[in-house]
Amino acid sequence: MVASTSALVHLDTDTTIGAPEAEHPAAALLADCLRGPTGWEVPVQVGAGSIQLRRDGSRSQDFGAEGYELDATPDGIGIVAGDDAGLFWGVQSLRQLLPVAIEARTTVTGVDWAIPTVHIEDHPRFCWRGGHLDVSRHFFAVDFIKGFIDLLALHKQNVFHWHLTDDHGWRLQIEQYPELTHRGASYTQAEARSVVAYAAARGITVVPEIELPGHALAVLAAYPEFACAEGPFHPATEWGVFDDVFCVGNDATLAFLRHVFDEVLEIFPSRFIHVGGDECPKTRWAQCPKCQARMQQQGLANEEALQSWTIRLFDQYLAQRGRRLVGWDEILEGGLAPGATVMSWRGVEGGLEAARAGHDVVMTPQTHVYLDRKHYEGDHEPGRLSVSSLENCYSFDPTIAAMTVSEAQHVLGVQANVWSEGFDTPAGAEVMIWPRMSAVAEIGWTAQADRNFADFVGRFRHFAQRLDAMGVAYYRDRAIWG
Ligand code: ACM
Ligand code: ZN
Repeated sequence: MVASTSALVHLDTDTTIGAPEAEHPAAALLADCLRGPTGWEVPVQVGAGSIQLRRDGSRSQDFGAEGYELDATPDGIGIVAGDDAGLFWGVQSLRQLLPVAIEARTTVTGVDWAIPTVHIEDHPRFCWRGGHLDVSRHFFAVDFIKGFIDLLALHKQNVFHWHLTDDHGWRLQIEQYPELTHRGASYTQAEARSVVAYAAARGITVVPEIELPGHALAVLAAYPEFACAEGPFHPATEWGVFDDVFCVGNDATLAFLRHVFDEVLEIFPSRFIHVGGDECPKTRWAQCPKCQARMQQQGLANEEALQSWTIRLFDQYLAQRGRRLVGWDEILEGGLAPGATVMSWRGVEGGLEAARAGHDVVMTPQTHVYLDRKHYEGDHEPGRLSVSSLENCYSFDPTIAAMTVSEAQHVLGVQANVWSEGFDTPAGAEVMIWPRMSAVAEIGWTAQADRNFADFVGRFRHFAQRLDAMGVAYYRDRAIWG
C-alpha cells in the first residue's frame, strides 16, 4: 500500500541513520548506498536518526515474515519491520524512491536527494524468491556475481542459486581435490566466502549447487577413477547431456562427494544445499559391475532406484549436519528422499507430485522462467532452445490451479534460471536476464490479485533508467518500448 503527496522529503549532510543495534546490516547497507553518490558519510547510530530503522518483534504478525512499513514525512523517514529481512527490503524500497543517480559509483553533484512522502505496507507472497546463474558453461568473475546479487537484492529476491559444477567446468576450489580447479577459471574459497558475505549483507542466501550423480565430466576429467568406464575424460566442449557420470557403485566416489560437501558446508551457511540430480543417463550404470553390485546389495530394482538411493544418501548426510537437500525434479525418480525439496523445472508436474507427497517445492518451469530462452522467435534473437516472452514469464503463477490449499502451502516460491550456454559476456548475460528477472521477482513478491502485466510494463519502463544509471544492459523488449 502506498500513499503519497507531492511533498518531498529531503536528505542532506545532517541526515543520520538510527539502527536497532551497532553494525546493523541493513543500516550499514543504507549508509554504504548513500556514501558514494552523495559524497556524505551518513552516520549510523544506535537509537534515533533522521532515517529510523526499527525492529519490532511484537508486531511480527502484522508485518508478516520479511514484511515492513516505510513512512516518509517532512519529519523524517521510518522503516519498521518484524525481522531483519524486512529492514533490508525497506532499505531497498527507499533506494528505489531516491533519484536514479543513487546508483552511481562516484559522487554526483547537483542532485536533490529527496523522496516523495509515502506510507508503504509491504510483504512478500513467497519465502523463496530466487535467481540462479550457471557459471560452469561460461565462467563469470566475482565482480559480476556481486553485481548480480545487488540487482537481486534491489528486487527483494532472497536466494542466489549458484550453479557451480557441470560437465564443462568445476568452479569451486576444493582443497582436498586440487585437480578439480587446476585448469580453467574458478572461484577460490576466499572468493566464494566473499560472495556469501556480500549476499548476506543484502539479505540474500547463497544456495550452492554441486551436481550429482550426472553432469560430472569436469570431475571425471580430473579424477577418472570416479567414473564407471575407463578414462581418460575431458570437460565437455559441446552442449548437452553426457553418458559418463559418477560411479555410485564405487565407495571411493561417495567418499569424494562427502569430502566435497564437507568443504562446501564450511563455505556456505545456507540451510538448503542443491545437489543437482537432473539429466543423469543410466547407460553406464547398466553396464558397470560396481553399480550392478550396489543395486543387488541394496535390493534396488533398477537404475532409477540407484539414483534415488544416491540422493537419499546425501539427503541423510546433509540432514545429519543440519542442512536440507534440494534437487531438480528428476530426484522424484525411484522415490523421493524423506527430507528432499524439489525444484520443478521440466514443467510444473514434478512440483505438483512432490507437493502431493508432502514435500516442499520451488517452481522454476522451463516453459516460463528459464531466462536462457529467446524473448521472441527469430534467428537473430539472443537465446536458445525455445521462446519465453516477458509476458509469458510474467503470467506464471507458482501455485498452480490443480493444487489444493494444503498442497499450495508446500510451494516455497519461484526462481528464474539463467543457463549460460548461449552467452559468454556480462552484457550477454544481462540481456537475457533483464527485464524478465524483474517479472519473476514480482511473481515471488506480489499477491497474484495485485499483479497486472500492463502495469508492470509501465513501471519497468521507468525502472530501466535505474539500470542505465548502473550500467546494466537489458533487452529492449517491444512489449515495453513498442
Ligand atoms: C536443468 O535445466 N537441467 C535443471
Ligand atoms: Zn559404476
